[in-house]
Amino acid sequence: MQQRYAVANRFIPLADTVRTMLERPRRNRATETIRSMVRETRLDLSNLIYPLFMVDGKGIKDEIGSLPGIYRYSEDKLLKEVEESMNLGLRSFVLFPAVEDSLKDKTATYSYSQKNFYLRTISKLKKEFPETCLISDVAMDPYSSDGHDGLVEDGKILNDETLDILGRMAVAQAEVGIDIIGPSDMMDGRIQHIREELDDEDFENVGIMSYTAKYASAYYGPFRDALGSAPKSGDKKTYQMDPANKWEALREAELDASEGADFLMVKPALLYLDIIHLLKEKFELPIAAYNVSGEYAMLKAAAQNGWLDYDKAMPEMLLSFKRAGASAILTYFAKEYAQMLKDGKLA
Ligand code: PBG
Repeated sequence: MQQRYAVANRFIPLADTVRTMLERPRRNRATETIRSMVRETRLDLSNLIYPLFMVDGKGIKDEIGSLPGIYRYSEDKLLKEVEESMNLGLRSFVLFPAVEDSLKDKTATYSYSQKNFYLRTISKLKKEFPETCLISDVAMDPYSSDGHDGLVEDGKILNDETLDILGRMAVAQAEVGIDIIGPSDMMDGRIQHIREELDDEDFENVGIMSYTAKYASAYYGPFRDALGSAPKSGDKKTYQMDPANKWEALREAELDASEGADFLMVKPALLYLDIIHLLKEKFELPIAAYNVSGEYAMLKAAAQNGWLDYDKAMPEMLLSFKRAGASAILTYFAKEYAQMLKDGKLA
């Protein structure tokens, strides 16, 4: 048997050590050409999904305080932002509406109303840019006067009673040209109900990206600032998952897969890389990772303080999602990453 170099053995004289050290992983790191040859993971622009916040109105491009560089756009400005993003090579967008308080009610009726600006804008967007992949959000919270993802009765978040509203919302979104529906409320039986409603209306080719393992996380704070969608009372712990749980994610994934989901999402992404890896190992469906607002805000803040090298730290973060097993990455960094790629900063 070959004698191997043992780090722990301090008694081997240096000359012998060198002679017996047959394995030198550093050889494959010697030059950029070799490193590039043996690189296991490559992030591609086609993996990125750029989240956009929308408001009703005209000429509005309103920066979100806790998300520097991210804005709420009215339709005209949104079309510009999408055009710029497309020119940089991005194709996929996930869209969220910031709804005026006066339009919110207990049953989220505005979510599927004919007057809904979110639906109107999506329809416009799809007509102008048919080659985009547009992903929606299906949950009550942007439209609910209670700020919860489901119907609230006596302080309880109802499960089954919310299904009808979500089905209507999904069909209304499919009607205006959404490519992939994103049910994000983490309650039970969502995927099957929405799949059946879509199929009944002949939208069998509209996909579903399920928020499969979405945790009750503190890292959604800036997103709730962006939409003004924080719960009016209580928290989301009776529907979103306990951050302590890993195996429960498998149960959620089994259900979503059996109910007809096309993607399994893990959210947040950076703090839950183990879950991304686990679902990738156990399921054949593509995995989506949502690099959430708080994760974006953390890195931006550190960069603004000069504490991290943004141009290096940001791509490293995005790469980690791909390495863990995600092929679809929802990230507020998408456009800046695409710009850096164009500027040759990632070479
Ligand atoms: C709501 C929804 C949330 C996010 C996406 N969809 C917030 C929440 O569950 O309260 C968070 C995204 C982010 O933080 O970037 N259904």
